[in-house]
Amino acid sequence: MKRNRYCGELGIEDIGEEFILNGWVSSTRDHGGVIFVDLEDITGICQVVFDPAVNREVHRKAHRLKEGWVVAVKGRLRRRPEGTENPKIKTGYVELVADVLEILNTSKPFPFPLDDTKDVNEFLRLKYRYLDMRRPSVREKLLRRAKIAKVVRDFLVSQGFYEVETPFLTKSTPEGARDFLVPSRLNPGTFYALPQSPQLFKQILMVAGIERYFQIVRCFRDEDLRADRQPEFTQIDLEMSFVEERDVMDVVEEMLKEVVRRVVGVELTEPFPVFTYEEVMERFGTDKPDLRFGMEMSTVTDIFKETGFKVFRDAVEKGKVIKVMRVEYGDRLSRREIDELIPKSQELGAKGLAWIKVEKDSLKSPIVKFMSDQELSKLKERTGYEPGDLLLFVADDQDVANTVLSGIRDLLGEKLGLKDPNKLSFLWVVDFPLFEWSEEEKRFVSVHHPFTMPKDPDNLSPETAKSRAYDIVLNGYEIGGGSIRIHRRDLQEKVFEVLDIPRDEYEAKFGFLLEALEFGAPPHGGIALGLDRIAMILTQGSSLRDVIPFPKTQKGVCPLTGAPSKVEERQLRELHIKVKEAAHGKADKP
Ligand code: AMO
Ligand code: AMP
Repeated sequence: MKRNRYCGELGIEDIGEEFILNGWVSSTRDHGGVIFVDLEDITGICQVVFDPAVNREVHRKAHRLKEGWVVAVKGRLRRRPEGTENPKIKTGYVELVADVLEILNTSKPFPFPLDDTKDVNEFLRLKYRYLDMRRPSVREKLLRRAKIAKVVRDFLVSQGFYEVETPFLTKSTPEGARDFLVPSRLNPGTFYALPQSPQLFKQILMVAGIERYFQIVRCFRDEDLRADRQPEFTQIDLEMSFVEERDVMDVVEEMLKEVVRRVVGVELTEPFPVFTYEEVMERFGTDKPDLRFGMEMSTVTDIFKETGFKVFRDAVEKGKVIKVMRVEYGDRLSRREIDELIPKSQELGAKGLAWIKVEKDSLKSPIVKFMSDQELSKLKERTGYEPGDLLLFVADDQDVANTVLSGIRDLLGEKLGLKDPNKLSFLWVVDFPLFEWSEEEKRFVSVHHPFTMPKDPDNLSPETAKSRAYDIVLNGYEIGGGSIRIHRRDLQEKVFEVLDIPRDEYEAKFGFLLEALEFGAPPHGGIALGLDRIAMILTQGSSLRDVIPFPKTQKGVCPLTGAPSKVEERQLRELHIKVKEAAHGKADKP
């Protein structure tokens, strides 16, 4: 019995007609002789009635039905009796009176209720992801992700982009994470790296004259996982020839507006604001601020140079900065809640957190008594504080002050309910430094990647050089990053030199790119957006795992398949690999 309609599509306009439905039993209720079954498919639920008065045989068979069984039913659609309607769903006014029932498969009892309201252990959910996906809330998120990808693809194709595939079995691309390696059986002792991004290939595609490339592509990075990081994730990757920053930004901005219009149903009319790196760091203490709310920061070191408040004066003398954050609605925090911010700020690296509560006609704080009227009036001028605000101060190194205050900002945004889930605040960040010091590697590294074009090719000074990179941020998440690239070999080599990468090393790693640049590489630039992050935000989720069909856990394990797992001795032998006993099999356990 093959379906001729989907469950969730039936409505009052279909009353009186006969239908065949296929689907899963989502629940059964036996109401004194009459059995009601909610039958579900991808479109939704339809109520099916098994009435002994209609068909005794079928009714008897329906007694066996349990949650998760797969059936085909044939029957006539009728209006539900008055008082039994469910106005919340389209099919809530009708029910199918079954005349034929075919049981296509049974099901074991579910390991957890599929009922949306229940909180279920995540490992269990992922182990039985196929059941988890039957939950409408999970399914909706995955379907919405599919729609985002479709809108992106349609948009980019309409703008003259071609989707070109790039290899997964390739060489290392330096995006700052560890590579996943794949041993080569045919070339003993050698390894492929799974790509951290298609960066080098998309640049080579520009040399190849493709001009407008895109790909919705999986990337692989062996890094420590967080809620917004997975070891394999998907980029909307694109690259364009003969362009400047604004050309790439315009395409992406139009694309994201189209996604929001078609997927969320919201028209974003304003251009996305553009901030310099310096400005976002000063005002928000982070390069990915959540602009759904204010709570801006100012540097006030100059104001407190000679203050009577010793903590600040000492800090200034030691060359530290004093930064203050103006917390609007700070009067919603109790004294206890303010005190609780102090250990939080210490966890984030602060030595202390000073505060001033701005009341109607006074400033309340343990520290104002040490401050002069002049200092306080300058503070008011600088921050624009108003009654009801709370001022939070950190005196420390600039990066510590930024980390602490932006961490507290994030926390208070949540606590004060300022993160409106229906608001989408996009912004661009430009004028990044080209290099940053890496304590770990004891050398300068690229802020983005080494192929980023310097703002001024004559200034490659590691402390001051700026790059032609741009990041795009949405609601506090970095959803994408890109740049105009270096398209000439000589400049690329100079950058490798600043990065302290010896010639033989960069030749071995990137010689193929350098050579390609020598064959008429056009000026080019591009960007990659994190599809998973975009989908997470547009489904109001808080973890990438919600929008990745088969995600990994924090420990990089796939609970469904049990990967990673041991392999057979024979496979290892073919690959010329020996696994040390101590490590062997460790990865098996979650
Ligand atoms: P980048 O490394 O900034 O740039 O990556 C681009 C975007 O990909 C997303 N992303 C991730 N999402 C989930 N899990 C991860 N582990 C993860 N890592 C990154 C982020 C990020 O903004 N080749 C360059 C792009 C370019 O220059 O064109 C690149 O990969 O949203
Ligand atoms: P103390 O003199 O250490 O008791 O600190 C006096 C006040 O200044 C307390 O409210 C501390 O939390 C705060 N404080 C101490 N160190 C700092 C700092 N580095 N930045 C901001 N406030 C601080």
